[in-house]
Amino acid sequence: MYVNTLCAPFLSLLLLLLGNGVEALPKPGGGGGYPPPNPGAQFAARTYDYIIVGGGTAGLVVANRLSCNPNIKVGVLEAGPNGLDDPLIYVPGKVGQAVGTKYDWNFTSTAQPILGNRTIGWARGRALGGSSAINFYVWMRGNRQDYDAWANLGNLGWDFNSMVPFFKKPEHFHVPSSMDAADFDLTYVTSDHGLTGPIDTSYSVTYGGSHQYWKDTLNNLNLPARDIFGGSNWGVWTGLTSVKPSNRTRSYSASGYYRPFSNRPNLHVLCEAMVKEVTLGYKYGQLTATGVRFTYKGSTYNVQATEEVIVSAGSVQSPQILELSGIGNPSVLAAANIPLKYANSKVGEQLQDRIMTVMIYEILSNVSNQDPLLTTAGLAEAQAEYDTYHTGLLTVVPTDFAYVPLKYYLNETYTNYLSTLVTGNDSRTDNIKSKLNYTLELGSMEFVFDPNQLFPVVPQEAGKKYGTVFQMLQYPFSTGNVHIPPAPGPGLKTDSSTPPIINPKYYEGDGVVDMYTMAAGNVFADSIAKTSPLSQIIVKRVFPEEPPAGEQMDWVQFVKDATISDWHPVGTCAMRGGPGGSSKGVVDEKLKVYGVKNLRVVDASIIPIQISSHLQGTVYAIAEKGANLILTDYYCKRGISQWYCPA
Ligand SMILES: Cc1cc2nc3c(=O)[nH]c(=O)nc-3n(C[C@H](O)[C@H](O)[C@H](O)COP(=O)(O)OP(=O)(O)OC[C@H]3O[C@@H](n4cnc5c(N)ncnc54)[C@H](O)[C@@H]3O)c2cc1C
Ligand SMILES: *[C@@H]1O[C@H](CO)[C@@H](O)[C@H](O)[C@H]1NC(C)=O
Ligand SMILES: *[C@@H]1O[C@H](CO)[C@@H](O)[C@H](O)[C@H]1NC(C)=O
Ligand SMILES: *[C@@H]1O[C@H](CO)[C@@H](O)[C@H](O)[C@H]1NC(C)=O
Ligand SMILES: *[C@@H]1O[C@H](CO)[C@@H](O)[C@H](O)[C@H]1NC(C)=O
Ligand SMILES: *[C@@H]1O[C@H](CO)[C@@H](O)[C@H](O)[C@H]1NC(C)=O
Ligand SMILES: *[C@@H]1O[C@H](CO)[C@@H](O)[C@H](O)[C@H]1NC(C)=O
Ligand SMILES: *[C@@H]1O[C@H](CO)[C@@H](O)[C@H](O)[C@H]1NC(C)=O
Repeated sequence: MYVNTLCAPFLSLLLLLLGNGVEALPKPGGGGGYPPPNPGAQFAARTYDYIIVGGGTAGLVVANRLSCNPNIKVGVLEAGPNGLDDPLIYVPGKVGQAVGTKYDWNFTSTAQPILGNRTIGWARGRALGGSSAINFYVWMRGNRQDYDAWANLGNLGWDFNSMVPFFKKPEHFHVPSSMDAADFDLTYVTSDHGLTGPIDTSYSVTYGGSHQYWKDTLNNLNLPARDIFGGSNWGVWTGLTSVKPSNRTRSYSASGYYRPFSNRPNLHVLCEAMVKEVTLGYKYGQLTATGVRFTYKGSTYNVQATEEVIVSAGSVQSPQILELSGIGNPSVLAAANIPLKYANSKVGEQLQDRIMTVMIYEILSNVSNQDPLLTTAGLAEAQAEYDTYHTGLLTVVPTDFAYVPLKYYLNETYTNYLSTLVTGNDSRTDNIKSKLNYTLELGSMEFVFDPNQLFPVVPQEAGKKYGTVFQMLQYPFSTGNVHIPPAPGPGLKTDSSTPPIINPKYYEGDGVVDMYTMAAGNVFADSIAKTSPLSQIIVKRVFPEEPPAGEQMDWVQFVKDATISDWHPVGTCAMRGGPGGSSKGVVDEKLKVYGVKNLRVVDASIIPIQISSHLQGTVYAIAEKGANLILTDYYCKRGISQWYCPA
């Protein structure tokens, strides 16, 4: 069995007694003295057991679990700033506002031919906590079939049942009061949740003015209310959020996995430090990760890792780091003037994003709107209430959710026709195709209503209020890639300061099925707004505008014009199961990078096939499982028997 990696005091004590004592690492910015110590040089002067590239969602989980043992020295390099005390990050009612700020990498895709050559914004967190610092607080998990598919592609141990302990481990679920449960239609099964983890999950106590209509509206479209954490997530529900209920602040990897543990002498986190590459050498004739090269305030440093380097830079930058280190497709590396160390053409491929459209409706101006920022007075009042009581409009986030099976928006003939458009014949495509099945009760399309415009799509007219129907495709066929660009000139090398080239190939190839599926989904989205009781607060659709009387809406054209990203990319350093069937990917099922010793990837990029869910709950689970895999190797190498050692 596994020893619980929560720091059991006896285990720490035992290891302290057995161990050789650990020198305290200086904290960045800490310590007195003159001249002030340079945190970059201090960091580089140490030798770590493990270095983690990226202090994001997954990276800080791994850092926490490894540094739980006081003898294990862990260094984390995060490119972004520490935003722990910035209201932009921690106030739930400011949801979405950190996008496009200094906490965002502001990536964009290449021009997408089917989208009229539009480039699409790809927000990615650039802060301690990574994308968990800027995401929209939605807490959920996918379907049993989603994870079983990973295992069926050849990734032992990643099936739903094996994942459940890791879904629960990060979570501290706060059971709502029975009054709130009744008032807000909360459907939950406590035993599906973790109750002692570092990430608080809770239900709101203040809702926007559409929530009271949401469930009944979907029920009127024959969609039942269901609990969604037991391995089947279709239905309508009130969203659970990653919010700390005591003071209504964001609960994320920086606040849950790092802040309470930041005094550990063996854990050293350096923010605003950009990793350039993983340094590789040969040990016993094998290509081995030895450390990383990074820049901090204009200087470049090398730092050593004696056990492993863990890359947790996310789905865009983990493949970038591998390529910059010489691991990847030889032609990509040659164009970038990066010497090839290990050829693997899967690096950066198999990118699956989540595709989204939004439709905007004018709503009655007396609907309580969750956007207090429309007036200065409104904001001041909301701020005072938030500061004093931790209640009010600044605690409100989107909570009206529905995951809808195919048969609600496609008919059988058309579903079968769409299946015939799929040409791919590898095991991964076959799996996505198996979900394009009229009879399956899987949430293949997500719909969210929010009495607000989270992003200004239509100009705000004085005195008017707007609501948004979000629509997100869960099982996309569209498959693209992320690669480093060619070198900027002869004799120069591409480096990490140049953003990678992101080409999601929306609706290309088999992705054409996604385009038609989205168009059919739009009709259903519109019917939500036109069904009672929600329809009672809707004045009219303003985006896309209703066609003139007698004319039909061209929903396929709307999809081409309006498709954007929902920022859930996966697959760029995937486990087994890319094009070509169950062939090897970038990492094995222990998350070890093929061809290089002492190097793993632990983040959303290892997901081999997209799931039907917002990703953070799954990324935390991947990181918890990853930390267990790393610790298993660490203890087994040392013959420590409490830890389960694979035969
Ligand atoms: C705007 C937005 C809204 C979202 N909303 C939700 C939601 O409501 N619910 C949900 O479940 N999911 C949501 N997601 C998705 C979810 O948050 C992400 O899938 C998840 O957080 C990804 O975790 P990760 O560890 O893979 O990467 P990240 O958390 O992005 O971490 C990667 C880290 O690596 C750092 N880094 C990158 N390159 C380097 C380098 N060279 N050197 C040093 N550091 C580097 C980055 O700065 C970042 O901190 C949202 C995502 C976004 C962007
Ligand atoms: C993202 O864009 C914002 C607004 O222009 C800018 O302030 C921020 O610095 C950008 N982020 C990065 C990493 O460049
Ligand atoms: C998109 O760009 C390509 C290449 O530049 C061009 O051939 C094509 O006509 C463009 N498509 C549209 C719709 O503008
Ligand atoms: C909320 O509570 C946490 C944990 O007690 C604390 O660290 C944080 O500073 C608090 N935040 C605010 C804004 O009160
Ligand atoms: C809002 O306005 C509508 C139409 O003018 C009216 O029917 C409704 O009762 C009003 N609701 C509230 C809460 O005032
Ligand atoms: C099935 O859906 C397609 C696409 O929306 C439509 O053209 C067709 O008429 C529908 N068929 C039936 C039998 O409803
Ligand atoms: C799958 O398609 C490829 C071409 O894309 C073809 O070479 C191969 O034979 C096909 N395999 C099967 C099992 O149909
Ligand atoms: C659809 O799913 C059902 C139930 O799982 C299965 O019996 C059927 O064969 C599937 N249809 C197709 C076309 O795969």
